[in-house]
Order: sequence, then C-alpha cells, then structure tokens
Amino acid sequence: MSDSILADHDLSPANTLGLPCRAERFAAPATIGSLRRLLCLTAEQNWPLTVLGGGSNLILPEYLPGLVLQPMLRHWWLERQGSGVLVHVGAGVEWHSLVMALAGRGLWGTENLALIPGLCGAAPIQNVGAYGVELGEVLEAVQVLFVEDGRSAVLTPEECAFGYRDSIFKGELEGRVVITGLTLRLSRVASPRLAYGDLAQRVGPRPSPLEVAEAVCAIRREKLPDPAELGNAGSFFKNPIVERKQAEEMLSSWPAMPYFELTDGRVKLAAGWLIDRCGLKGWRSGHFGVHDRQALVLVHFGGGSAAELLAFADRVVAQVQARFGVVLEREPRLA
Ligand code: EPU
Repeated sequence: MSDSILADHDLSPANTLGLPCRAERFAAPATIGSLRRLLCLTAEQNWPLTVLGGGSNLILPEYLPGLVLQPMLRHWWLERQGSGVLVHVGAGVEWHSLVMALAGRGLWGTENLALIPGLCGAAPIQNVGAYGVELGEVLEAVQVLFVEDGRSAVLTPEECAFGYRDSIFKGELEGRVVITGLTLRLSRVASPRLAYGDLAQRVGPRPSPLEVAEAVCAIRREKLPDPAELGNAGSFFKNPIVERKQAEEMLSSWPAMPYFELTDGRVKLAAGWLIDRCGLKGWRSGHFGVHDRQALVLVHFGGGSAAELLAFADRVVAQVQARFGVVLEREPRLA
C-alpha cells in the first residue's frame, strides 16, 4: 500500500533540526510505479509538491500544503566490473548504512563520507563531501523522474554540474525532478584518501576502507552533535570562497586564519573559524545556539520555529560580516 496518502502528517520527527511541521498530505512510495502514480496525481490535482529525504539538510516551515513525498526505494546491489564495482542504490537507502556496508566489503570510494546523515537520494543535491572527498567523484549516474509527467531519465556526473555543496538539482532542475536512485563506482584497489586534518594519524599504515570509515566516524562524533540528542542540520553555512586579494588582506590581519587555495585561484575560508573568532561558539539565544564544539553548526534546543532559526542565523551572518567583511551563505535548504 505504498501509494497511500496520510493526511495532516507530523514531520517534526522527520527533520534532524526537530522543527515543528505538519504536512497537509504525506506519502512514502516504496516503488517507482507508486512514485510515478503519486507524481501524476499531484500534477492532476495541482498540489504543491515537497520532496523529503532524510530531512538532515532542510529547514521546514510550520505547515506544508499539498503533498510531501519521501521516496522509500530501498534496494541496492553490486555489479562487478574488472577491479571496480558499480553500486546501484535506491533513493530511500540510508547513506551511512550503505557506506559502512560497502567499506565492510573492502570497497574503496565512499569511506570518507561515513556518518553523513540522510538518505541516498538527497546526497547528490548538495554533492555531500567530507574529509577531502565529494560524492561527485565516485558517482557514475543519477536516476530521476520528472515531476511534470513522471518520465524517467538518467543523468551523467557532467550533467549533474557538481560543485562545492552544489549541483543542477539546486539550480535548473530544482523542483522539476525526484531522484530515485544512484549508481556509484567503487574500487577494490586500495586508494586511501587521508590528507585531510589528522585522519592519517588515526589509522594504521595500510588501513582497510572500514578502518578509514571508522576513523571518520570517530572524528565526526567528537565535533558534531548527534541529531537524536540535539537538533541540527550539520554545517549551517557553506565555507565562503573569496578572491585571493581579499584572503591576503585578511591573512595580514589574522595570520592564523585557516584557508584552502582552489584551482581557479580563489580561496576557500573556514566559516567555523570566522564564527568562532567572533566569540560566538557556544552562544545561545532563545531556542537556538551555536554548537560549543563546532561553530559551523547551529543547534535547536527545542521549542523553536524556522522563522526564529533564520533570524538567529542572520545575527551570526551580520557579526561575521561586520568583523571580516565576508557574507556567509546558508547551507540547508528551505522547504
Ligand atoms: N574551526 C575553528 N572553530 C570552529 C570550527 C572550525 O577554528 O568552531 C577551524 C578548524 O580548526 C579548521 C577549520 O576551521 O582549521 C575547518 O574546520 P573543519 O576541519 O572542522 O571543517 P569545516 O570546514 O568546519 C567542512 C564541511 C563538513 C565536513 C568537514 C570535514 C562544509 C560547510 N562543512 O567543515 O561538512 O564534515 O569539512 O571535511 O563544507 C556538513 O556539511 O554538514 C558537514 C559537517
């Protein structure tokens, strides 16, 4: 009965920020056929449509009219290809469980992306990335259905136009497609990526992918709050990218500022460091706060709303802008 539509559905447990939200209608289709029927009905009825993944990168309003769809396609299988393996995975598979299962099978490629919350279908939207690896580097294809008529299509990585926390699904295709599945290309040949932070010090000399994934989990658990205990959406801001000249001026005033030179000559700064240097780490106002172990993460202590969160975030942005002349951009999307 995966076509069934629930009325007046509570989405508070379905978003990691724990914001209160009710959906006028909610459905969690478990097959492509069911998803397609629901899309056709939505078009026929002219309902506004919201697609939900794991709700870990989303700011929900108090009420969502129309239909909220959470694709629950939960299949995944491996296809051998020489020393490589293609992984075909449905949008409803939990990303972290998949990463651990693949690392446990000795497959290289996604181990640095362990413990990122959310479902696989949402991962390409902001091109999830951590510890020196981005999803786009291991992606072979993305399967979608078009919202307007339910037709299917397959996008290549080039067509996905991946960038830092960015893709075509945040641009031209925003609101036009539902991601139904991904194909990843992994390898059996050892290819550890340990250059980020102290990752190399946390594993042995010839680590397995599982050992790397476990080290990544340990680092993340030290710094990032568990949404089951404290509402949050991971990094609330993107790391800002500035022109080299601006970065050099900033470095002359703050020589200890972390930075990362990009291939296009621009420089990526650490939003967490900028917020931290404004003295905001651990700052709390009302129902929201800046996490006390990672200033890039805003936390919800419960009882707050999306409007209050956005106003809180604006105050953080204003303080960073006043001190450093850099405008931080929000990372989670508004539903
Ligand atoms: N820093 C501080 N104070 C803080 C936070 C960070 O001084 O409160 C400094 C750190 O010491 C370091 C620099 O800022 O020198 C960068 O910090 P970190 O290595 O913790 O990484 P990040 O830039 O804060 C990014 C991603 C994370 C990802 C990590 C690891 C973005 C917006 N965030 O964080 O992604 O896990 O790198 O690769 O790119 C997420 O998107 O939800 C997320 C957690």
